[in-house]
Amino acid sequence: MGKDVIVACDFSSAEQVFAFLDQFQEEKPFVKIGMELFYAEGPQIVREIKKRGHKIFLDLKLHDIPNTVKKAMSVLSSLDVDICNLHASGTKRMMEAALEGLTRPDGTRPLLIAVTQLTSTDQESMEKDLLIREPLDEVVMHYARNAMEAGLDGVVCSPLEAGKVHGCCGEKFLTVTPGVRFAEGDAGDQKRVTTPEKAKELGSDYIVVGRPITAAADPVAAYRRAVKEFVG
Ligand code: C5P
Repeated sequence: MGKDVIVACDFSSAEQVFAFLDQFQEEKPFVKIGMELFYAEGPQIVREIKKRGHKIFLDLKLHDIPNTVKKAMSVLSSLDVDICNLHASGTKRMMEAALEGLTRPDGTRPLLIAVTQLTSTDQESMEKDLLIREPLDEVVMHYARNAMEAGLDGVVCSPLEAGKVHGCCGEKFLTVTPGVRFAEGDAGDQKRVTTPEKAKELGSDYIVVGRPITAAADPVAAYRRAVKEFVG
């Protein structure tokens, strides 16, 4: 694992995701499978994309009582994905249970990371809708510390918070960062955004890029641009 661009394949069918991936002849991008594709196609889509040689971040953002999350994670660990995740707001106990469920009998497991605050959330929506009144970056650091103490491998956060997360949880604690846009791109529903180049500067380990690649006129060129800016 190292610096890489993860492509958010937010499609609603196997046909669409394969039509997208078939455009990549030379590269095998790291693929993020989210709720839309997973709910549409089920676990088989994970196996098929894995069989094509892609690394997979299964982004299902689990959040439930510890026992339910533990059992769900145990099912997901049999899918042989590289990264999976949950919401840190589910508490430390839920994260510890998740880790237990994810660990296979031989001791191996996918990486487990926690969503801190979604990159579509800003200070105002957090205060108004969630009644959390602390500064957003302190909330993110608090959740990151909880995730580290629960034994997780890293967090999903905005690139704007990556440096601070490394500062409080160490350089090895992974920061996987969505909310990435090219300099001239449209932010859409994302509120805390940066360019791939800036994300690199800020210390992100992985950037997650969806629409700037999937909706580009030339997705392969957009992917290469993201890799060039982020990895160099
Ligand atoms: O299209 P876009 O680049 O905005 O896609 C970002 C992806 O990252 C989406 O699949 C979204 O679900 C995911 N994500 C996010 N913010 C988080 C966690 C995941 O945007 N905090």
